Amino acid sequence: MADLDDIREGNKFGIGIEQKNPSFHIKGTGNLLWGAKDRMTRIFNPQTARTVMLAFDHGFIMGPTSGLERIDLTIVPLMEYADCLMCARGILQSSVPANINKPICLRSDAGTTILTELNDNVLIDIEDAIRMNVSAMAIMLAIGDPTMEARTIANLCKMVDLGTKYGIPVMGVTAVGKDMVRDARYFGMASRVCAENGANIVKTYYCEGFENVVAACPVPIVIAGGKKLPEKEALELCYMAINDGAAGVDMGRNVFQSEDPVAMIQAVSSVVHQNYTVDQAFELFEELKQE
Ligand code: R5P
Repeated sequence: MADLDDIREGNKFGIGIEQKNPSFHIKGTGNLLWGAKDRMTRIFNPQTARTVMLAFDHGFIMGPTSGLERIDLTIVPLMEYADCLMCARGILQSSVPANINKPICLRSDAGTTILTELNDNVLIDIEDAIRMNVSAMAIMLAIGDPTMEARTIANLCKMVDLGTKYGIPVMGVTAVGKDMVRDARYFGMASRVCAENGANIVKTYYCEGFENVVAACPVPIVIAGGKKLPEKEALELCYMAINDGAAGVDMGRNVFQSEDPVAMIQAVSSVVHQNYTVDQAFELFEELKQE
């Protein structure tokens, strides 16, 4: 209990000054409760409302792919430049330093490797997500896949129910099926389906007409990087996505498979947070590469 001596009466009540009702900086999340907003704010920089998520969850489906053979050697040095880390729980617990102080977007479904057909039918236990103090949970949706669409939408709905209960936002990750046309109509629909079913963040792919995908999605969209591109092209992809309204990137291979991943993540961040042009960002990449 506080010391009872010298308790002073309050006298600065600001009579006549209307109470400030803080607005919230992240699209479509103003009605969330405080805990979820706090987690979203850890992911999306309050100054820019954007994020650079570093995705290194690939191993849960493809094993030790190039750049992810040794998380301690290749990914840990990148973490300080990321706003958020996206990975599966086994890597989080075994390889991400617990004092890194970065928000975690936890890959929260599983069930498939690249050796078989898509089959994400296992969800992690919400209690484990809470124990790991994650800031968001990522769930894949296979929109348009005849065998997996219903199951993956059900997965999202279940995680949104649980996430809402405990204030943990959910990110819907749109998968690209082999037979799907990768255009704005498809990604616009898949993104909207994620948001309509309660996703607080949507991860999808950049495409022509992306501004329509963003406009019709009531929550922030981050783009996946996709397969490795030459650095300048990857920066151009980031630039076009941000220019069309994306709230950031959730990028993996184009960072950790870069010839200089530490330089690349900083160049990506300069596009996302500082509105660098492609040429400026590429120049920064070249400069940092020399160091
Ligand atoms: C998506 O489901 C994967 O888990 C990756 O996180 C995602 O594809 C982002 O990585 P990349 O930028 O390498 O495509």
